[in-house]
Amino acid sequence: MLPPILKDKLRLPVVASPLFIISHPALTLAQCKAGVVGAFPALNARPESQLDEWLAMITEELAAHDAAHPDQPAAPFAVNQIVHTSNKRLEHDLMMCVKYKVPIVISSLGAVPEVNAAVHSYGGIVLHDVINNRHANSAIRKGADGLIAVAAGAGGHAGPLSPFALVQEIREWFDGPLLLAGAIGTGGGILAAQAMGADMAYIGTPFIATDEARAVDAYKRMITESQAADIVYSNYFTGIHGNYLKGSILASGMDPENLPAADPSKMDFDKAVTGAKAWKDIWGAGQGVGAVKAVVPVAELVGRLEREYREARNRLCA
Ligand SMILES: Cc1cc2nc3c(=O)[nH]c(=O)nc-3n(C[C@H](O)[C@H](O)[C@H](O)COP(=O)(O)O)c2cc1C
Repeated sequence: MLPPILKDKLRLPVVASPLFIISHPALTLAQCKAGVVGAFPALNARPESQLDEWLAMITEELAAHDAAHPDQPAAPFAVNQIVHTSNKRLEHDLMMCVKYKVPIVISSLGAVPEVNAAVHSYGGIVLHDVINNRHANSAIRKGADGLIAVAAGAGGHAGPLSPFALVQEIREWFDGPLLLAGAIGTGGGILAAQAMGADMAYIGTPFIATDEARAVDAYKRMITESQAADIVYSNYFTGIHGNYLKGSILASGMDPENLPAADPSKMDFDKAVTGAKAWKDIWGAGQGVGAVKAVVPVAELVGRLEREYREARNRLCA
């Protein structure tokens, strides 16, 4: 059962996932106005005082949009909190979410009861992202409301499991909100996620190739020109396994076929593991890149996904 917040104002069962460096208010607002949940990582607001300004701006602009378009209200937004010892801002950033009653908080890398309790105190919900069934179970026991199953092929940090296996195992014991992530780049993919047992799709990579994304043009272009075979899975850059564009690794002077393994204990979101800075110079992307053919406005991307979703449903029903 989906709570109303994940259903009522949505044009498509989609959460646009938070993207380090790339998601900022212009992208999040465009996503919400297009009818999918928009999201950004709290850490993208720098210095940390900027988070207060961003949340004020987003809250005001969405309220203004809803007043002007009562028939087509914007979808709600989400803030991503990295719950990891390297994130020294967590307490501050969480206080800001409480101050602005952020409707959806997405927690990554650590499930902590205090984070869930803080969000529940004002009626918000927490979705926790996981790469396996054990972490999923632990997150729900600690009070998360829903799960994001990050399967093989997802952009950024990704797990090794097939989406079929991951969703099936979680659905054996969990009937709450379940989102599926990993290489979903078409409306048919969104419908497939639902057919598999997920409630919604969690989509990142296609939103990098949009006008509103805060990524350099060469990165957006490389997304449109790459295929699944151009994605490299490595833990070298951040200490955690993730998917990256081969072209960006080559451009940084490294051999994508011969990357050494990293030491996970050195993971730090602020520091480079190599001379090139992960996320800034080494560009994350999922195996679904092949579905992204052009850089377009967010509204156009969501329009395509909706059209394809409808066509896929009609095709199956016929
Ligand atoms: C460039 C990039 C940056 C990301 N940054 C974050 C982040 O800051 N926090 C987070 O929880 N997930 C992050 N992710 C993972 C996404 O939220 C999501 O799991 C992923 O994009 C879904 O797979 P897809 O890209 O194949 O659609 C990132 C992904 C990419 C591609």
